[in-house]
Amino acid sequence: MTTYQRIVLASRPTGEVQPDNFRLETKDIPAIKDGELLVRNQYLSLDPYMRGRMSTNKSYAAPQALDETMIGGTVGVVLESKHPKFAVGDTVVGTLGWTEVAVSDGTMLRKVDTTHIPASAYLGAVGMPGMTAWYGLNQIMAPKAGETVVVSAASGAVGSVVGQLAKLKGCRVVGIAGGAEKCAYVVKELGFDACVDYKAGNLQDDLAAATPDGIDAIFENVGGAVFDAALARTNAFGRVALCGWIAGYNGEPTPIDNARFILTNRLTVRGFIVSEQPEFWPQGLAELGSLVATGKLAFRESVAEGLASAPDAFIGLLKGRNFGKQLVKLG
Ligand SMILES: NC(=O)c1ccc[n+]([C@@H]2O[C@H](COP(=O)([O-])OP(=O)(O)OC[C@H]3O[C@@H](n4cnc5c(N)ncnc54)[C@H](OP(=O)(O)O)[C@@H]3O)[C@@H](O)[C@H]2O)c1
Repeated sequence: MTTYQRIVLASRPTGEVQPDNFRLETKDIPAIKDGELLVRNQYLSLDPYMRGRMSTNKSYAAPQALDETMIGGTVGVVLESKHPKFAVGDTVVGTLGWTEVAVSDGTMLRKVDTTHIPASAYLGAVGMPGMTAWYGLNQIMAPKAGETVVVSAASGAVGSVVGQLAKLKGCRVVGIAGGAEKCAYVVKELGFDACVDYKAGNLQDDLAAATPDGIDAIFENVGGAVFDAALARTNAFGRVALCGWIAGYNGEPTPIDNARFILTNRLTVRGFIVSEQPEFWPQGLAELGSLVATGKLAFRESVAEGLASAPDAFIGLLKGRNFGKQLVKLG
């Protein structure tokens, strides 16, 4: 193998992401120098935050550069190593981007054990999305047993973990998801107490029926109408972990009519970015890893095959076509 393929950002989207915002390139595999290693990626992680990086709008992180490899989480195997901490055959998790192979100096790369945890799970339940769930739930919502917790995008990478962790804490957990199939999965496979299908056309009434005692804590992944409906059901001194606003990532208007409940119910609303407090990651990942390894934390994956499938899979993620953690499997 002397060449590899990668996908670069070719242009910035206005509105919905289009396939021609990306470009597939073939490159020569470079020789590694001392202190470097060559990794062959097995899985790429596709995540909603990438939409933000594709634009130049002000955000918490710098935009993705044009004509450079699309950023993203990866898990792969070391093919060659001149780095003292990594050996050929090691499985490594990092952010090597949308590429079949990459040279790394080891920065932001960590070795993982795949004996009891599948490699792909390090991009989902035992990776950044799982950690997002763990952090928002434990550090912001801090729900007590018996409280009602609502989670939007409930069948997804983050939402599925939030709900299961909240169930382990003894909460009543209600998901919100798009479609009957996703809702059935959320209740039957993930063990939520109820799930409301926001696409069924009766969100406010269905959510009221599923939260007879009101809502004590919201884990918000979607924003817009979904968040608006949940705000109206909050109890006094409720907490909101504001994690994502995917309904507006393509620039759609997402008005909120029920913001007054933040005042009248004296809510604590905190937006967060999971990378902001790295000191929590070792504890969170250890807990998540142990739950996955012992079969106490379920997860589901949508796996697209081959690097060239990444743009369509990413566009699908922003439209809810994924069902669980969206990955791309490389050959
Ligand atoms: N703050 C942080 O540090 C942090 C870290 C990771 C992720 N996040 C955020 O967490 C959220 C979930 O991320 P994830 O990786 O777990 O993704 P995911 O839930 O696995 O996939 C995204 C899901 O969002 C829903 N969705 C997409 N477009 C929507 C729309 N227009 N309106 C309503 N729902 C829509 C879809 O589910 P339905 O079919 O059920 O609608 C889709 O399956 C995202 O907002 C993401 O940006 C934040």
